[in-house]
Amino acid sequence: MSQTWSVLAALLFLIFSLVEGSAYNIVNVEAGDEAVLTCASTSKMYLVMVTWEIKSNTSCSLAYRNDRNETKLNCSERMMWKYSPDRDPALRIYPVNLSDEGNYTCEIATDMGNFHFSSSLSVIVPPTVTLTSDKSRVAVCQAAAGKPAAKISWIPASNNSSEEEFKHGNGTVTRVSYIGWVNSMNTTVTCLVTHPAMNQNLSLDLSGKKHHSVIACHHSLMILCVFL
Ligand SMILES: *[C@@H]1O[C@H](CO)[C@@H](O)[C@H](O)[C@H]1NC(C)=O
Ligand SMILES: *[C@@H]1O[C@H](CO)[C@@H](O)[C@H](O)[C@H]1NC(C)=O
Ligand SMILES: *[C@@H]1O[C@H](CO)[C@@H](O)[C@H](O)[C@H]1NC(C)=O
Ligand SMILES: *[C@@H]1O[C@H](CO)[C@@H](O)[C@H](O)[C@H]1NC(C)=O
Ligand SMILES: *[C@@H]1O[C@H](CO)[C@@H](O)[C@H](O)[C@H]1NC(C)=O
Ligand SMILES: *[C@@H]1O[C@H](CO)[C@@H](O)[C@H](O)[C@H]1NC(C)=O
Ligand SMILES: *[C@@H]1O[C@H](CO)[C@@H](O)[C@H](O)[C@H]1NC(C)=O
Ligand SMILES: *[C@@H]1O[C@H](CO)[C@@H](O)[C@H](O)[C@H]1NC(C)=O
Ligand SMILES: *[C@@H]1O[C@H](CO)[C@@H](O)[C@H](O)[C@H]1NC(C)=O
Ligand SMILES: *[C@@H]1O[C@H](CO)[C@@H](O)[C@H](O)[C@H]1NC(C)=O
Repeated sequence: MSQTWSVLAALLFLIFSLVEGSAYNIVNVEAGDEAVLTCASTSKMYLVMVTWEIKSNTSCSLAYRNDRNETKLNCSERMMWKYSPDRDPALRIYPVNLSDEGNYTCEIATDMGNFHFSSSLSVIVPPTVTLTSDKSRVAVCQAAAGKPAAKISWIPASNNSSEEEFKHGNGTVTRVSYIGWVNSMNTTVTCLVTHPAMNQNLSLDLSGKKHHSVIACHHSLMILCVFL
């Protein structure tokens, strides 16, 4: 008898861990957009109460009692029910900002039992991309304040490039890539920036700089001629 109980307990544990696993959502949203975190469909049951527990940079909660048709909350005004909570207790955040990143747990009490669902919200921020040239290092490509950090590469590919990274307090990263040597046959360099929120290619014609060096060269030749 005790054996069947332990088998049953193990089975129940397995079922619960499967449910837990499948109920864990990972949600990626761009800063400024709308995030909708789903809980469970309550259309086939009677909802007694629902509570969202939020653990981000700050902790707060949002709760609804069906018998009183009443919501209590101490979260940001950017967080509210997406629909009528007795129908679908999904949480809406708009506009999303970096401080909303964290863990969101929804607990519902219904006539068919209690359930809870967890989501992890990640906020992504597209970087600001610029391509400039500077005297010493020819071309500088910058992807500023992106989250996660952007990847920078060059066309034509160069073995003479270097990269710097700056981490900001709000979780964003600025990356700067310098290219020191370009094929003299091709005066156009292209910087390729890849990021989950955007891909961008910027091109820069360095022939203006090359002209200067050509003129300087002519100058020195003339001076050389004069001296000869
Ligand atoms: C909301 O209330 C909970 C407990 O009542 C508290 O721990 C939390 O700090 C509060 N959050 C805010 C943002 O006031
Ligand atoms: C519950 O309250 C909301 C506003 O707070 C109202 O729009 C809605 O009609 C109410 N629902 C019921 C069933 O009373
Ligand atoms: C996020 O929004 C809150 C208001 O809900 C504001 O106080 C905070 O400064 C914002 N954070 C960022 C990183 O924009
Ligand atoms: C988290 O909160 C602290 C202080 O409340 C603030 O200095 C920091 O910028 C916040 N971080 C984010 C990512 O919003
Ligand atoms: C969210 O949960 C994960 C894993 O359970 C944990 O590592 C992380 O620190 C939590 N984040 C916050 C903001 O509580
Ligand atoms: C780059 O590669 C070229 C030939 O492919 C080589 O001559 C040059 O020394 C390399 N430069 C560096 C900085 O590795
Ligand atoms: C994050 O911090 C950097 C540096 O202070 C700032 O330039 C950027 O605008 C911030 N990003 C967001 C989304 O708040
Ligand atoms: C390119 O190579 C030159 C000489 O090999 C070196 O002085 C320079 O720092 C390199 N530039 C970059 C961006 O790596
Ligand atoms: C020069 O490089 C650009 C990329 O920066 C490429 O699109 C173009 O085809 C190249 N031109 C030649 C003549 O190799
Ligand atoms: C950037 O250039 C690469 C290589 O030429 C190409 O595969 C990619 O589609 C381009 N991306 C954009 C956004 O133009």
